[in-house]
Amino acid sequence: MSSRFTTPRDLYFGPGSISYLKELKGHKAIVVVGGGSLKKSGYLDKILGYLAEAKLETKVIDGIEPDPSVESVLNGAKIMREFGPDWIIGVGGGSPIDAAKAMWVFYEYPDTKFEDILNPFTIPPLRTKARLVGIGTTSGTASEVTACSVITDYKTGIKYPLADFQFNPDIAIVDPELTYSLPGNMIAFTGVDALTHAIEAYVAKGRSPFSDAPGLMAIEMIFGNLERSYKGDLEARNNMHYAQCLAGLSFTNALVGIAHSMAHKVGAIWKVPHGCANAIFLPNVILYNSKDPVSLTRFANIARHLRLTGFTDQALCDSLVQAIRDLNRKVNIPYTLKDFGVQEPDFRANLSLVTERALADICTFFNPREIDQEKMERLFWCMYLGTDCFF
Ligand SMILES: NC(=O)c1ccc[n+]([C@@H]2O[C@H](COP(=O)([O-])OP(=O)(O)OC[C@H]3O[C@@H](n4cnc5c(N)ncnc54)[C@H](O)[C@@H]3O)[C@@H](O)[C@H]2O)c1
Ligand SMILES: [Fe+2]
Repeated sequence: MSSRFTTPRDLYFGPGSISYLKELKGHKAIVVVGGGSLKKSGYLDKILGYLAEAKLETKVIDGIEPDPSVESVLNGAKIMREFGPDWIIGVGGGSPIDAAKAMWVFYEYPDTKFEDILNPFTIPPLRTKARLVGIGTTSGTASEVTACSVITDYKTGIKYPLADFQFNPDIAIVDPELTYSLPGNMIAFTGVDALTHAIEAYVAKGRSPFSDAPGLMAIEMIFGNLERSYKGDLEARNNMHYAQCLAGLSFTNALVGIAHSMAHKVGAIWKVPHGCANAIFLPNVILYNSKDPVSLTRFANIARHLRLTGFTDQALCDSLVQAIRDLNRKVNIPYTLKDFGVQEPDFRANLSLVTERALADICTFFNPREIDQEKMERLFWCMYLGTDCFF
């Protein structure tokens, strides 16, 4: 049986590396951006300036909301069809880059419906009209290197993780300067999101030596840099931007597990930001998955790599859980869903719906240990109250 490990064709990195855009060869570039932070920081003008140097005609699709909607995607695709770009440039956090990827499908295949691409690996061959550049401005989702695009249907409240290697950008630009304007809570949330990507990928069913290597490096770099980056250290900020990208190279090939399944669903219903939900869930998801003997060994291996203490695999795994909780505390992440502000009546009223949806999420399939409705509801209670998963 053969397996696949896919990365962008080229990855440009380093402070100032967005200047690579002046080397692009083509005719027309459409730039997809978010709510305005890029404009405010002056980087949108810089990007348009480099594209002008490359003699590309440009157009901007702006205002992509966090957790982009199906409507934004379809509207953007319409603008693309009118403009006819041969380069699509998604710049931002995960949201604008993900939106750009999904727009690309409906730009190249106008008759395709959103429902047609919900199952993994059902995207028709792209690059018949345009290629994609991904430029990350948050240090977490690594959408600039991944095969994923997360789009929300606000009519049903469901967040769909679309996945296909067609989505891997042709060019990724990992320029840490773009992250210097990030506010503290975003650094924290996106940083622990990246940690969750790397740790879940390290035990996920799709893991391989090729995903393990960047994943372990990412974990080490995140533990070494997140708190300092959160406090404003720019060298640590640079390292975090590279670390989240390494985590992305890992998880886009290995996939992730139930921390993500659960985070995808609580975002829409209890409005918990993606990274914050992952940070709250990760310690208990590790405890749950550590009942799988192979995963326990691998969690212990991560702990050894971080030079944590423990005489047995279980003790090392417990040290890893404690280290994550300590890191969360240092970057001011709430300990439980209750601390985040989810009210108990709201939690009880939606628990079975959220669980049902999380079970159906594609990431559940790649989790190393099976889970059912009853166990996941109990796990949610642990995350609500702050108790440890022992089952
Ligand atoms: N494609 C993937 O592989 C993948 C992986 C994980 C998550 N996601 C999805 O990505 C989305 C989250 O993306 P995100 O966390 O990167 O954030 P985001 O793109 O949703 O942006 C969040 C906020 O941060 C602001 N922002 C972005 N960069 C900034 C900067 N440099 N300075 C100041 N403000 C800035 C944005 O304007 C926005 O208000 C979710 O929808 C999540 O489900 C995608
Ligand atoms: Fe994530």
